[in-house]
Amino acid sequence: MTTNGKSRWNPRSITTYAALGTAILGLGGYIYARQIEPNRVDINHYSLKFANLAPEFKGYRLVQISDIHADGWMTRNRVADIIKIVNSLNPDLIAITGDFVTYESTSHMDWLAVELGKLKAQDGVFAVLGNHDHWSGADQVRKGLKDGGVIELQNSYHTLTRGEAVLHIAGIDSHYIGMARIDTLVEKIPDKGFAILLAHEPDFADLAAATGRFELQLSGHSHGGQIHIPILAKPFLPYYGKKYPRGMYQINGMKLYTNRGLGMIHLPLRFNARPEIAVFTLE
Ligand SMILES: [Fe+2]
Repeated sequence: MTTNGKSRWNPRSITTYAALGTAILGLGGYIYARQIEPNRVDINHYSLKFANLAPEFKGYRLVQISDIHADGWMTRNRVADIIKIVNSLNPDLIAITGDFVTYESTSHMDWLAVELGKLKAQDGVFAVLGNHDHWSGADQVRKGLKDGGVIELQNSYHTLTRGEAVLHIAGIDSHYIGMARIDTLVEKIPDKGFAILLAHEPDFADLAAATGRFELQLSGHSHGGQIHIPILAKPFLPYYGKKYPRGMYQINGMKLYTNRGLGMIHLPLRFNARPEIAVFTLE
């Protein structure tokens, strides 16, 4: 098409349209990452088959949440909504794999303790601390968990029973902070019985799998990259969250699940890394 004998599609107009298109896409992407995706909590269901699970625990339902990161964005109302969803999933056990707060625990742990106290699971609510919990004040976080009725597994374990059958739920303190004591933990756990490990940092799985004691490790920490733009940019992944950043893995005889978490750090943006609640049915 021509106007006054000149093509409308001259190089300058093509550049202008390309710049405009890029700006619109960029703005749309930003609005999506800021306003939409962080609120789109994904509920992922997994049926996990294990050869050595006692028949008494077949159908056991474990709900995992991670990386709440209570802050100016992850408000009490948002946490309350998440807790309602978790309870509606009818869990036998709730596992929380660390990073309750980001850099400051004092202004958030009191209300978070009250909300965590509303979680309902037949066998209880178990948790481990993450690196941010230590950076924010582990004592304050631990007090909040205790007040909220959440049992912290600090290089320790708890045994669940169904008749003669047992299932051990174990937890390791933050590997990032240098507080993980896997040898001590494995020594404490009885030799027999199915064992699940909670560990904030997923890349700890190589060490956990090497012990041969755990059938499943549940982790968080990586936020699935949080902002993950395929091809154009590598996802941002923290130390000890780079090798196993999201989803299900098999490491020797152990399964690992890396949960994308619920909150955010640095920028309050999520792209292609929706927040999630994971529901595992053991078979
Ligand atoms: Fe973390």
